[in-house]
Amino acid sequence: MRISVKAPLKAILAGEHAVVYGYPAVAVALDTYVRVVAEPGDDSFRVETELSCEGDVMADITRDGNVKDFRSESLREELTYVATAVRKASEEFDAHPSNLRIMSEAPAASGLGTSAAITAAVLLALAEVSNVDVSREEIRKLVREVELEVQGKASWTDATVVTYGGFVRVSGREFKPIEPERDPVLVVAHSQEPSRTGEMVRRVAEFRERLGIVDGIMKLIGKLVEDLEVALHDGDLRTVGELMNVNHGLLAALNVSTRALEEIVNVLRNAGALGAKVTGAGGGGCAVALFEREEDAKRAVETLSALGYEAFVTRPSPCGVKTEGSGS
Ligand code: PMV
Repeated sequence: MRISVKAPLKAILAGEHAVVYGYPAVAVALDTYVRVVAEPGDDSFRVETELSCEGDVMADITRDGNVKDFRSESLREELTYVATAVRKASEEFDAHPSNLRIMSEAPAASGLGTSAAITAAVLLALAEVSNVDVSREEIRKLVREVELEVQGKASWTDATVVTYGGFVRVSGREFKPIEPERDPVLVVAHSQEPSRTGEMVRRVAEFRERLGIVDGIMKLIGKLVEDLEVALHDGDLRTVGELMNVNHGLLAALNVSTRALEEIVNVLRNAGALGAKVTGAGGGGCAVALFEREEDAKRAVETLSALGYEAFVTRPSPCGVKTEGSGS
């Protein structure tokens, strides 16, 4: 039996980094997905993925999460998530050995929650292959546990959005769906530099320890997230965009923007974005922008592509991780 599972990637509209310290964040699931196709295997978990620029990569993972026969340095972090998910699934529901094929519509290490989406999709695929029912809440909890083990520090944001989909406000382990009056058009642009979440979270933690003022920046981000939630709910996209711009300035103050991300954010704003900012951990990875009109969004993508950045227009996705189909 073959199972196909998909999980959405996500963008953070406001609140990354501060959310790790208990402030709220607002994130949205994207109509851009990670897919895992799983089939029962023999005695280990064989992973094949085309996420790497080195082409197809294969690895064998044991029940206790050891990765054997592994040949891609650039995918080390993603495979660590998969290996940890395999171990958790073996411990929690005695997952059946399986062959897993992992695909993504966006580049890995892009700050779009790829690792969380892969983890959620692998967990659900393994549960399906093993004929075990796992609740969404169980998946959310396991994704968060995997992130904590691999990253050291992690908020509930990615785990919640990839599991439930839609627009979500996250604060600590609590979350609340937001139903906006109007759905915006989104553009995501990749800086072509990798973003390593664990490393960036550690860097911000270190910066916070050295500079007392960083706590004040986090607090301000927390306040703007509260205002953004209200504006989003009311369909006031202009205010949402302005608050995203303010958030970008504060993320730059936390040292997580780069020259490429600054260039992207400027191009997006000049093309008519209501707001544009780094999304996710930063230090590379992606920027996200909010547009009112699809034509402007498309024009921005063309300009960014001409400058050598990978960019695409996307929309919010109402669905979280789910089975797409099964067959033999
Ligand atoms: O880079 P991403 O997509 O994994 O997002 C990370 C968001 C942070 O706030 C920096 C970390 C976290 O766990 O919330």
